[in-house]
Amino acid sequence: MDHFGFAQGEMYVEGLRVSEIAEAVGTPFYCYSTETLVRHYKVFSDAFAQNDFLLCYAVKANTNQAVIKTLADQGAGADVVSEGEMRRALLAGVSPEKIVYSGVAKTEGEMAFALGQGILQFNVESEPELEQLSRIATSLGKVAAIAFRINPDVDARTHAKISTGKAENKFGVPWTRAREIYARAAKLPGIKVQGVDLHIGSQLTELAPFEEAFHRIGQLIEDLRADGHEISVLDLGGGLGIPYEQAGEQPPLPLDYAEMVKRVVGHLGCKIVIEPGRLLVGNAGILVSKVIYVKEGENRKFLILDAAMNDLIRPSMYDAYHEIVPVVESDAAPEPYDIVGPVCETGDTFARGRDIAPLKGGDLVAMRSAGAYGAVMASTYNTRPLVPEVLVNGAEYAIIRPRPSYDDIIGLDQIPAWLKE
Ligand code: LLP
Repeated sequence: MDHFGFAQGEMYVEGLRVSEIAEAVGTPFYCYSTETLVRHYKVFSDAFAQNDFLLCYAVKANTNQAVIKTLADQGAGADVVSEGEMRRALLAGVSPEKIVYSGVAKTEGEMAFALGQGILQFNVESEPELEQLSRIATSLGKVAAIAFRINPDVDARTHAKISTGKAENKFGVPWTRAREIYARAAKLPGIKVQGVDLHIGSQLTELAPFEEAFHRIGQLIEDLRADGHEISVLDLGGGLGIPYEQAGEQPPLPLDYAEMVKRVVGHLGCKIVIEPGRLLVGNAGILVSKVIYVKEGENRKFLILDAAMNDLIRPSMYDAYHEIVPVVESDAAPEPYDIVGPVCETGDTFARGRDIAPLKGGDLVAMRSAGAYGAVMASTYNTRPLVPEVLVNGAEYAIIRPRPSYDDIIGLDQIPAWLKE
């Protein structure tokens, strides 16, 4: 459930009209709802209430400081994949002992930074990474608490580009070699083995792949304990999908996910860490955009928006579906439009043949479910300024990232001396 609804024929975010914010901020802009963020956090944490449990928000989904802080104030920790993300989480007030550090290839500098913070856990993804972490920890007089990210070789049955738990994917260490790798880790001076981690993919719409992977991991934990390792933390990753189409497929509820987790791995007595990203922020955000022109093509009608693939890349990159709704309701019968942006690529298409009530230049639309992997994946392609972000809280709103000026963008380039002569 989210807090983007219609009243008196207009779209609201909590207590504010979308059109009122658009007038003040200009379009396009991302708009997030505090109440929705908090609600999603509570649904997840309540579902796990009886367990020794930590929710580490996967900040990659939306790294705005205000979004991280809203969740951190509720008690969330953070799952980070770079020094930059760790810095963001720390600055937003996440305490280091609630930070897990994932990522395929942490550099020396990043490891040293993280060791200096005293984070909860490094999720190590390879043997070379393990050796390097031990070396750096030892040189700093520290011990790194680690889990290995296990690749359980399970098909997450999601889009190939966001599936991560198959043997052919670059992620984690093979589950078949895990015992040998843990044995090596236990001998290293800068390493304290404490957990097991996995993350099999994103936007999963069924529980079965999770369950299969968690069974495999549960068995592994028993084997590792039999080998003499103390395994006290089980990090299950993120990945639970969200509904992108209100009338379409409904992914499992957090409550059902939590029940499955308890049933499959509850008996192990581990502290359970989960790393949801999309589920917390995806449906807590919209991208508001204005129609620039309506163009009659040879045999199609185009709605050309002022937002483009550089602002929200998911439709171009993953053929992702985002609902697109007029901000002001109308009784006119819907007609099929290709909804596109102004960037010079055919891939700059948000939807093809989408039925929507006829619109004209100047009308506003909202792209729903844009709170996750929206603003964070934006670029300035075609020298289009990054769009601002707005956070609504009840009847007030704040700009949580302003729109940069052209000088801000172009001024980043530097002309070398030889070209100035
Ligand atoms: N933990 C790890 C180690 C991850 O790699 C990810 C996401 C998450 C947690 C959070 O997954 P979530 O709960 O959000 O599914 N850009 C793509 C999604 C990429 C996900 C990458 N990893 C998209 O727009 O669909």
